[in-house]
Amino acid sequence: MRGPSSHPVLLLLFLTLSVWTAAASGFRICSYNVQNFNRNKASNYRVIHTLTRVVSRCDICLLQDVRDPESKAVKALLSSLNRETDRYEDEYHYKSVSSEALGKSADDMQQYVFIYRTQTATLTDQYQYRGGQSFIREPFIVQFESKDTMIKKFILVPLHTDPSQAVQEIDRLYDVFTEVSKKWNNTNVMFLGDFHAACAYMTRADKKNIRLFTNTKFSWLIRDKVDTTVTDDTNCAYDRIVVYGEPFLKAIRPFSAKVYNFAKELKLPRSKVLQVSDHFPVEVKLRSSALLLQATPLLILLVQTFLSAL
Ligand SMILES: *[C@@H]1O[C@H](CO)[C@@H](O)[C@H](O)[C@H]1NC(C)=O
Repeated sequence: MRGPSSHPVLLLLFLTLSVWTAAASGFRICSYNVQNFNRNKASNYRVIHTLTRVVSRCDICLLQDVRDPESKAVKALLSSLNRETDRYEDEYHYKSVSSEALGKSADDMQQYVFIYRTQTATLTDQYQYRGGQSFIREPFIVQFESKDTMIKKFILVPLHTDPSQAVQEIDRLYDVFTEVSKKWNNTNVMFLGDFHAACAYMTRADKKNIRLFTNTKFSWLIRDKVDTTVTDDTNCAYDRIVVYGEPFLKAIRPFSAKVYNFAKELKLPRSKVLQVSDHFPVEVKLRSSALLLQATPLLILLVQTFLSAL
């Protein structure tokens, strides 16, 4: 038997394949309403273990409904994520960036938290939107840069709407878009979070009053028919991912936007899933950088060369 190193073409093919396979795994962005994630919840090791499995799949993960003013809960999750790293020999290190506590009443203050892999994502900017009375929890906007994605710099706008005014809040994301795209000179904007964009809170008829629907440059990647809730009693696409513009849409891996039903994927009983949240995460994958895409024709050429040399 001769190994791949014995044949130069084979070796090159092998190397190209390895790079290509690594790139093909894609860059995953997730959004998860972790329903009242606080210090108490984080002290349950089962919850932290499950969350670690869910969040460690993502290059960037937005958590919503975090109530952790002293950063104890997020710290517990981060230390678990960075510990598991050793155990599974996974090379990633995770960091977080959090908003302040946002809300209109003292007993319902929530934070937006982004957890990201330091090797694949670099936080370049952050900005707390102040929209007067527009939102109960105003978006905490971040800009990331990645060398692994086709699109280099992109803006993430999180939103956990208040159910009582979901339609108005989703519509006002348009104003946030206008402001932030101008501020950072970048229209590669993704909106994500629990918008309550379904069932009783947003009906089909409401769409005409939402600029993110009437302006066709916005693409809703998580569709209306999807169920982002855990229980069988509800079948609602509350959690959504929306992107602006053709360049961003082209940088998305086709059909990669979906609910991550980890009850099914990780074979967890419903009760264990509900310990973490009554929502499932949603996610999408960005395409790998242009350099790696350019390697694809090279790969085909190498296969052809190799086959003809046989
Ligand atoms: C904004 O971005 C565009 C294209 O990305 C670039 O051509 C232009 O020079 C930028 N403008 C400023 C003010 O940085």
